[in-house]
Amino acid sequence: VTTRLSDYQPPAYLVDSVNLDVDIRDGVTTVTSELALRRNPEAAVSDTMSFNGEGLVIRSLALDGKVLEEGEYRYENGELRLSGLPEQATLISVVDIEPEKNTALEGLYMSNGMYCTQCEAQGFRHITFFPDRPDVLSRFCTTVRADKKRYPLLLSNGNPVEQGEEGERHWVTWEDPFPKPCYLFALVAGNLACLEDRFVTASGREVALRLYAEHRDLDKLDHAMASLKHAMRWDEQTYGREYDLDIYMIVAVSHFNMGAMENKGLNIFNTSCVLAHPATTTDAGFQRVESVVAHEYFHNWSGNRVTCRDWFQLSLKEGFTVFRDQMFSADMNSAAVQRVNDVDFLVNHQFPEDQGPMAHPVRPAEYQKIDNFYTLTIYEKGAEIVRMQYHLLGAESFRKATDLYFDRFDGQAVTCDDFVDCMEEVSGMDMGQFRRWYSQAGTPILSVTSEQSGDTYSLTFRQQTPPTPGQSDKQPLVIPVRLALLDKAGEPVALDDTGLRETVLILREQEQTFQFPVGQTVTPSLLRGFSAPVVLEFDYRADQLATLLAHDTDGYCRWSAAQRLYFAALDRLVTGHGKAEDEALKLAPVLEQVIERAGEDAAQAALLLTLPTEVALGDRHTPLDPSAIHSAHQQLKRALGRALQAQWLSLSENLLATELQMDGVAMGRRQLRNLALDYLAAGEHKEAARIAVELFELPLCMTEELGALRVLVHHRLPGAELALKQFAEKWKEEALVMDQWFSVQASVPGETTVESVAALLEHPAFDWKVPNRVRSVLGALAGNPSAFNTDEGYALFTRALATVDALNPQIAARIGNAAARLHKLESGRQRAFRTLLQGVNDKASPNLSEVLSRILGSR
Ligand code: ARG
Ligand code: ZN
Repeated sequence: VTTRLSDYQPPAYLVDSVNLDVDIRDGVTTVTSELALRRNPEAAVSDTMSFNGEGLVIRSLALDGKVLEEGEYRYENGELRLSGLPEQATLISVVDIEPEKNTALEGLYMSNGMYCTQCEAQGFRHITFFPDRPDVLSRFCTTVRADKKRYPLLLSNGNPVEQGEEGERHWVTWEDPFPKPCYLFALVAGNLACLEDRFVTASGREVALRLYAEHRDLDKLDHAMASLKHAMRWDEQTYGREYDLDIYMIVAVSHFNMGAMENKGLNIFNTSCVLAHPATTTDAGFQRVESVVAHEYFHNWSGNRVTCRDWFQLSLKEGFTVFRDQMFSADMNSAAVQRVNDVDFLVNHQFPEDQGPMAHPVRPAEYQKIDNFYTLTIYEKGAEIVRMQYHLLGAESFRKATDLYFDRFDGQAVTCDDFVDCMEEVSGMDMGQFRRWYSQAGTPILSVTSEQSGDTYSLTFRQQTPPTPGQSDKQPLVIPVRLALLDKAGEPVALDDTGLRETVLILREQEQTFQFPVGQTVTPSLLRGFSAPVVLEFDYRADQLATLLAHDTDGYCRWSAAQRLYFAALDRLVTGHGKAEDEALKLAPVLEQVIERAGEDAAQAALLLTLPTEVALGDRHTPLDPSAIHSAHQQLKRALGRALQAQWLSLSENLLATELQMDGVAMGRRQLRNLALDYLAAGEHKEAARIAVELFELPLCMTEELGALRVLVHHRLPGAELALKQFAEKWKEEALVMDQWFSVQASVPGETTVESVAALLEHPAFDWKVPNRVRSVLGALAGNPSAFNTDEGYALFTRALATVDALNPQIAARIGNAAARLHKLESGRQRAFRTLLQGVNDKASPNLSEVLSRILGSR
């Protein structure tokens, strides 16, 4: 069933308030709901209303106190239809559901002995009958009942207003004063430990902060708490947004489809995005917790107070909130490193999505399963579109525009256009053409050429967006290009007679030329800060890239120059036009400079010294031959390992810390050190194994322990098997650490890894019902092209996909995306994989089928 944006109709009835009673008993939970219905003045007059409901067993239905007999309603295909409704009515429904059997993890389900919910996007309909759409905002009052001993903690949105006991059971009633769509509903019943703190808002309101997790994880909540307080302060200072309830709760659950969920006043988090402890969590994990905690907190305004009219507008809240969390993380950490990390993620993950069979606009025009549209395009490209508006308006006007947006639409469900309208109104700019970023799919390609004639330097920009599925002709976009021109010494030259040294060109046409009064030879530093999400093509000479890498003050441009140098070298190896040793010798002097300056910012140095992935390299070569890619990658890494052996050795040994620190500087040093050790091992240095084993045996934190394990295992060094055994023994009780143990093994490059993956799927600790565990193996395999793209890899992957699909269609669909490069494979591999995928698709859930059909349909 296809849902289309153009078919949007306002709901016939609104639900002013909801009274829920959730009676949890072993095996069956009974949900009683009382809905206060009122005809929608904004909709065409109708006396018929439909309510969503999936898998609900009806015990009784009553309208205005009168019991409905079977002939008086229709409940089929997930819809309950009532006709002959008056202007206002009260609908009471009593239904039974079975949370214990819910492996799809949407609606009410059980996770590690506790009950919890996930309602976005359409989980609420698995709990009770309701118009499950974000433009119906209601006041919720929820009573949760359960066994006192086993579920001492009963939570829902808002504030607790009443509680009581009845024998072995107890109940708590929660009231949420803010009207909200049902996707923000949440409920938890369990036996959990709590870390409590408080926050006083800018206007003096006191908020209780409560973080809940299993008792054994109580010592892993401090970082999330600190992050939450930072986020609350930051949103006050940066956006003037204060928290609005007396309590803010986060509950950690181990079975969760996504990262986290912003339910009003009661966030529910995947344990991986909230628990953190230096002994069990890597530095990257710490940063992820900080950003996800902030993201969900920021949703309280961008998402909850102002929400989406329909799911086509998902990026209204997600793109904006990702932009907000990125800016927060930039303020908390190194802004330059943060930006490069964000761009790296976008370019290596969202770009391929936007260039493949799953490409869709940031505001899609249609979908079959909305769950499949929680994509990198909606989130990450959406964030870039907000970022462009931030830069177009400037910080001050942008703030005025967001003030207007929050003020005007508070308590409403609105559209992406409403957001841009505020930008337009405040700035007086015409954003008409800019809006194409929301409706046009695909990554624009910006080709730039330069010309020097006498005292004039000119740059010509040509933009073009390749066709995407269902959208063949593309219009020119507004593309802001921030740039500088660097002289031989790497200094920006004056771009005009006022002495301006950096400018932003706003491209609007397919082709535009700009001239600068510059007589000397320059290197253009283009798209600074990654000022627009485009592929930039410029025929840089190697010496120009070396200039950028050595001297550019813009972190993104330095990183991008390094990437270009690596890709050029790797491409020559893939096509058989180069020798790895020669390429390494050419790269060595520039990389040496980076290493010499590593003391300034170790994290940035690590980013500059990291090779592009095999996946990224593969995307540049059609038809795709994963073995050739793999071999080129291994060769260059090995050659660089040798050419800079002395440097890697000294970084591996000298960056050793004697005492644990968790600040950005220390994290950067660990990142660089792990990378150096990896190169040292790639170059087959005889000291690599010793250093790795020493580090593995006496680590200061998980980043060191896992970094050492990874080097041992990925380079098949002596001691690898023993280390894996010791690690598993040491961490068998820590699920998140064991996830890493699984994924380290599934990501070893090379064909033989398929066998280890098969064994991992049979391991007693593997569990098909835990999304984190499934991702740790299948996600890792999917990112490991030399193992994935084998007959055995395809067979294993497709079998696993079918198994996951039977339990959890949302997760299966997500993993199914790993097949998106099907059409790029060389023909033998493609034929084999296609047949297997077709076999899975024939029996797939609607979620998985939407993804596989798109992939199979593209050639
Ligand atoms: N709104 C959540 C977040 O980005 C994501 C929830 C997605 N849920 C889903 N079933 N796709 O913070
Ligand atoms: Zn979000």
